[in-house]
Amino acid sequence: MESRLFVALLLLCLAAESCYGGVLFSSLPRTLEITASPQQGQVLRAGEDRITVSWGFNQSVQASDESYKRVKVSLCYAPVSQVDRGWRKTVDNLSKDKTCQFTIVERAYDASVRNHIYEWMIEKDVPEATYFVRVYAYNSAGEEVAFGQTTDVKKKSDLFEIRGISGRHLSLEIASVCFSAFSVASLFGFFLIEKSKAKGFSKN
Ligand SMILES: *[C@@H]1O[C@H](CO)[C@@H](O)[C@H](O)[C@H]1NC(C)=O
Ligand SMILES: *[C@@H]1O[C@H](CO)[C@@H](O)[C@H](O)[C@H]1NC(C)=O
Repeated sequence: MESRLFVALLLLCLAAESCYGGVLFSSLPRTLEITASPQQGQVLRAGEDRITVSWGFNQSVQASDESYKRVKVSLCYAPVSQVDRGWRKTVDNLSKDKTCQFTIVERAYDASVRNHIYEWMIEKDVPEATYFVRVYAYNSAGEEVAFGQTTDVKKKSDLFEIRGISGRHLSLEIASVCFSAFSVASLFGFFLIEKSKAKGFSKN
């Protein structure tokens, strides 16, 4: 009975992702250095342009990276793109924070490499907004233990813009979505017709 309760709780935890507290962003040390290729104010296109990020442990900070097990580099909304958008809100409690929604790369932390480099094609579903890049280090429990970001504390410097996919691509995209919706609808219609035919037969 108790073990069943435990399993149920565990499942609930996994579903809610909130059982291990949620770390406060303000409690994290900034021990990771990170740079991203876009210049301040540069405009990039989703689905077309690439971003190169490089990150590593800041050798001049008085800290140890012993507990770091994984790192995740993400694209994060700048304050100007969060105004009136609750679904992008910054919350100090990281289990509720919505600032960094797009993963650029996630991998095991390798302390032997001083400078990691990764090139990322901006995914098509990245919305038009102003962004910066942040990296988190996680411990073995999956909790954030350190961070680094390409902007300053107030998130005002070194921001860049991403525009949606260009007009031509967008219309193609819309056409293909409509087409698939149409195919599903017609398939469904066909199925209904078949079904009513079958019913008709069984009545006779
Ligand atoms: C963060 O939010 C979660 C979920 O509501 C809560 O369980 C946790 O105690 C919070 N953590 C802190 C440090 O306030
Ligand atoms: C690395 O850490 C030092 C000491 O805290 C700090 O002055 C410097 O700005 C940091 N470098 C980067 C790129 O964050």
